[in-house]
Amino acid sequence: MELFDLIVLGGGPGGYNAAEKAAKGGLKTAVIEKRALGGVCLNEGCIPSKALLYSAKIFDYMHHGDVYGVTCKDAAIDQKKVIARKNKVVKMLVGGVGATMKKAGVTVIPAMGTIQGRDAEGFKVEADGKVYGSKYLLICAGSEAVVPPIPGLREGLKDGFVLTNHEILDLEEIPQKLAVIGGGVIGLEMASYFNSVGSQVTVIEMLDKIAGPTDREISNILMKNYEKKGITFKLGCKVTAVGDGKVTFEENGEVKSVEADKVLCAIGRRAVTTGYGLETLNVELERGAIKTDEFMKTNVAGLYAAGDVNGKIMLAHTAYREGEVAVNNMLGKKDRMRYNAIPSVIYTNPEVGCVGETEDSAKAKGLDVEVVNLPMAYAGRYVAENEGGNGIIKVIVDKQYHRVLGVHMIANYAAEIIYGAAMMIETEATIDNLKEIVFPHPTVSEALREALFEVK
Ligand code: NAI
Repeated sequence: MELFDLIVLGGGPGGYNAAEKAAKGGLKTAVIEKRALGGVCLNEGCIPSKALLYSAKIFDYMHHGDVYGVTCKDAAIDQKKVIARKNKVVKMLVGGVGATMKKAGVTVIPAMGTIQGRDAEGFKVEADGKVYGSKYLLICAGSEAVVPPIPGLREGLKDGFVLTNHEILDLEEIPQKLAVIGGGVIGLEMASYFNSVGSQVTVIEMLDKIAGPTDREISNILMKNYEKKGITFKLGCKVTAVGDGKVTFEENGEVKSVEADKVLCAIGRRAVTTGYGLETLNVELERGAIKTDEFMKTNVAGLYAAGDVNGKIMLAHTAYREGEVAVNNMLGKKDRMRYNAIPSVIYTNPEVGCVGETEDSAKAKGLDVEVVNLPMAYAGRYVAENEGGNGIIKVIVDKQYHRVLGVHMIANYAAEIIYGAAMMIETEATIDNLKEIVFPHPTVSEALREALFEVK
């Protein structure tokens, strides 16, 4: 039996990054992955969707350039080419992860791994007919799309009428009518893409707002922008059936329906905790996910879990950091996971970037905060590049300590700017210290600097 210090089960962002860091830290490490390295993020999530959305952005610019003095005739989208380019991007990055594993000295086992149990010598994992042993086991098995028992949904998935994030990213034909169930991140990003490339899109959302926990004012601005672009939003509507070319839902007690050529089911994801022998370890679960502490440890000695599988914050960058915390603790380094400064981004156009407390969450926690709310027009570059733009930036400041607790913005480049705000929260710098930071001019980020100067 080949022995490792660490076996990582799952080669997504949580797993491959942890494996690399562990190997570099001197642990003999193996990562077991049944599909492609990179997980959902690289193969059917973050990266492919960004490739598609970039194609849509170029197409949008071509269509709507008039206002900037640019006209472009005969702009067209070739969906097959868009998908082919997306596949090229994915292939290149998956290859890059493989090369990184090799360089770090990680053993990659391309097979389904099944935990067989744990004894005095450590964990036993079977893969491809062989049994491997390890002192530590890090579970990075990820999540899967939730498919609720709505009549017709499962049948629709089988016959291709209904898609998840997995299938929609390979769609080579643009549906004339697309119904999106769920106005969360996946729903909005895909609604944005298909709206840009010409589909008639309807988003059906159960809550009274889109974009989940995003600041309400920002979700509203986002929704208004997309309503202008032609997306129909059905808020407070519960889907009750899918099939016969339509999605049926309840709106204020009335049964209604919308016609669709394709339906995207994007109503959330759940941790994968079955099918790979986890039950042999008697691991404690919490709301269907593996329960972890701030060191990413589970209730089983030597067993750690990082990424979507622990159900905390299902984002690739959370998984990276959680994997690092787990490995650092195995290596005896002091490190713990903090969740108060994890940015989140929605790659719509305009983008939404958020980090930390919102006005509502701060109030719910009884925090004494000041909220600075500025139009993005405070930044010269924003005005130059966003004719008619209605973006805003909100900075939530702790009155007692005079520190930033949250930043929320809707603007182009928000995705690239928001990490700066995360640093402000993570480093706990005071507003006076932050005012001394020199921002490049002219940039969209300067709206954040302006907001800092508005704090009382
Ligand atoms: P989500 O949790 O973001 O949104 C699901 C939405 O569906 C919620 O607003 C919910 O109220 C609604 N919903 C639930 N049941 C419904 C029903 N029966 N009828 C109508 N609406 C219903 O989940 P989503 O969009 O599937 O994303 C999954 C995960 O992937 C999330 O954790 C997200 O953070 C992550 N992700 C992150 C991205 C990013 O960081 N840019 C991009 C894509 C996904």
